[in-house]
Amino acid sequence: MLRNMEMNLMLSALLLICSWGGRAQEFMSPSVNIIAELEKIKLIEERLKSQDTTVTLLNSLVEELKRENAALKTMADTFQKKLYSLQQENEARKVAFSASLLDSGTGHTGPFSSVKSPLIYKKVFSNYRNGYNSSAGIFTAPLKGVYYFRFYAHCHGGHRLSVSLYKNDQRQCSVYTHKPPTNSNAGNGIVLTVEEGDQIYTKLSANSWVYDDPGSYTSFSGFLLFPL
Ligand SMILES: *[C@@H]1O[C@H](CO)[C@@H](O)[C@H](O)[C@H]1NC(C)=O
Repeated sequence: MLRNMEMNLMLSALLLICSWGGRAQEFMSPSVNIIAELEKIKLIEERLKSQDTTVTLLNSLVEELKRENAALKTMADTFQKKLYSLQQENEARKVAFSASLLDSGTGHTGPFSSVKSPLIYKKVFSNYRNGYNSSAGIFTAPLKGVYYFRFYAHCHGGHRLSVSLYKNDQRQCSVYTHKPPTNSNAGNGIVLTVEEGDQIYTKLSANSWVYDDPGSYTSFSGFLLFPL
C-alpha cells in the first residue's frame, strides 16, 4: 500500500520534470524567430504612428468643414432674409386698377358749370392693393414709384368732350373734342413719378360730357411700373 503511493509520487515528479524540459526546449528552438517578431512589432508601431497622423489630419479637416459650414449657414441666413424682403417688396409692388364710369345702365355724365369733384368710375375691374377708391374716383398711391395712368372718354355727337388727369390738383394731361358730328372717343396716358399718398384722378371740364354704357367706353386705369 505505501509502496504504491510512493510509486505514484515518483511518477508524477518525473512527468513534471519532463514537461518543463519540453517547454524550455520549445522556447529555445529555432522555430521562434525573435528578430522577425520584433520586426512585426516595429511595423505595427509605424502603422499606428501613421494612423495618428491621419487622425490629426482628419480632425483639422473636420474643424475646417465646421468653420465652412458655419460661414455657409450665415450666408444662407442672409439670403433667407434677403429673399423675404424681396418677397415683401414684390408683394408691395402689386399695384394696379381699372374701372369704368357706370356700374350699370346707360347715360351721359355732365355738363357741370363748375367742376369740383373727380369723375367717379364705379365699375371696378381690378384694384390691387385697393389704391383706387370707387366712392371718390381717386387713386391714392400706396407707395412711391413710377406709375402709368391712362383714361378713355366717349361722347355722343354734338357734345363737347373734355377730360383732364390730375395729380394733387395739378392738371397733367387732357383730351378734348369739340362737338363732333357723331360719337367720338379720346384717350391719353402718362408716366408719372408719384409720392406715397399722392392722389390721381380725372375731372370733366366745365360744360362738357362723357357717355358710358355696359360697353365701358369711358374708363380710368393705372399701375405701378416700378417703385422708387
Ligand atoms: C373713399 O372715398 C369716400 C368718399 O370720399 C370716403 O368717405 C372713404 O373714406 C374713402 N375710403 C377710403 C378707404 O379711403
